[in-house]
Amino acid sequence: MRSGTMYYDAYSRQEIVDDFASRDYLTPAEFAALGEVWPLVRGDVLDVGVGGGRTTGYLQGVARTYRALDISENMAAACRALYPDADVSVGDARSLAAYPDGSFDLVLFSFNGIDYIDHTDRKQVLAAAYRVLRPGGAFVYSSHNLAVLEGRLPPVAPARIVPTIDPLRMLVRSVRTLATGLRRRRNRRRLQDRQYLAGDHAVVNDEGYDHSLLTVYVDPAAECEALSAAGFVDTVTIDARGRRDPARHLDPWVYYVTRKAAVRSGR
Ligand SMILES: C[S@@+](CC[C@H](N)C(=O)[O-])C[C@H]1O[C@@H](n2cnc3c(N)ncnc32)[C@H](O)[C@@H]1O
Repeated sequence: MRSGTMYYDAYSRQEIVDDFASRDYLTPAEFAALGEVWPLVRGDVLDVGVGGGRTTGYLQGVARTYRALDISENMAAACRALYPDADVSVGDARSLAAYPDGSFDLVLFSFNGIDYIDHTDRKQVLAAAYRVLRPGGAFVYSSHNLAVLEGRLPPVAPARIVPTIDPLRMLVRSVRTLATGLRRRRNRRRLQDRQYLAGDHAVVNDEGYDHSLLTVYVDPAAECEALSAAGFVDTVTIDARGRRDPARHLDPWVYYVTRKAAVRSGR
């Protein structure tokens, strides 16, 4: 396993695992994206980067078979603890090595999990999803939107105190806020040299988890081209409110629904 890499270490930290395991909602974009491919949701489903199982409760009862994987043992364990009947393994989205070609109707990689994989490895993720899908199957995932950066790398977010008239609480909050500010600046110093902006994507140390991660942001049009280069067809993009193919994507996240072409029956 890739212990020591930025994304593996972050997603193994207990407070991040607990945070993901505490979530149990689907977003409007996810309802819309899964609605696009509803008959496939009822088939054989692979939930990649499942985290603490936010999506498991929704899919497990509907899918003919439901399997999930995560690169982080701690995330996989948290998901299993909440859903003991679910088939949850430890594995890597870049290879999906445990799964034979053409074994799923739907591959899901939700909540921008793909953005925590080195950008140089992104093509491997697309190729692996394509490989394990059956003809006619769909790959659904979200990713950060390059447009929201407006051409700038974000500064360190200031840590703010929520004021209170209780002097003791105010003291505790002040100390915590100071510690948060120091942690954010320390994380930024560690990761700042790995940030960059390119024409079609960026690698950004944004404010998530106190600036402790590097996140890939992509241009939606370039991402659709990358999907097409990987063999996918009929790609649809979905915004935060669940609207399909808006003229411009202005939300922080974009959902992609894309398909492996069905085999035409010859006559
Ligand atoms: C932002 S979290 C999303 C978790 C979950 N899908 C959800 O929606 O709540 C991203 C997840 O992707 C996992 N991940 C990151 N890189 C991965 C990889 N190469 N293979 C499999 N999972 C990976 C992380 O461990 C983490 O659990």
